[in-house]
Amino acid sequence: AKILLLHGPNLNLLGTREPDTYGHATLADIVSDLAAIAQGSGHELHSFQSNAEHALIERIHAARDDGSAFILINPAAFTHTSIALRDALLAVALPFIELHLSNVHAREPFRRHSYFSDIAVGVICGFGADSYRLALHAAMRRLS
Ligand code: DQA
Repeated sequence: AKILLLHGPNLNLLGTREPDTYGHATLADIVSDLAAIAQGSGHELHSFQSNAEHALIERIHAARDDGSAFILINPAAFTHTSIALRDALLAVALPFIELHLSNVHAREPFRRHSYFSDIAVGVICGFGADSYRLALHAAMRRLS
């Protein structure tokens, strides 16, 4: 199946961005690792990163018609702010997993609230780049 991997703002800087919090892997490292895992299990991974809310919303809208079966999303800071992204996911009604590199519950209080968790299939956070692998495995199990 086609799985869409979405990355919110500042995740293009992974590898150099606050490495103590987010690790040393770049976004390209994470995406190529996941694409290989997905392909090895007969799935197709499509990845999209944007720092712009509207671009992420439009990519989610496109997922409704491009055959995407499942979304993995790290909304980054939009996690805590974006009713519009939440509404886009509700509109396309595709199942999704919310994921984060860091444990958002162990950080500043404003990171504890998410506009996505209550409508997600599940939430994975705190495992660094492994959060992505865990989310992909969970998605593939649901798709099989
Ligand atoms: C993040 C956590 C968010 O609070 C933060 O704004 C990010 C990254 C994570 O993956 O740990 O940009 O989503």
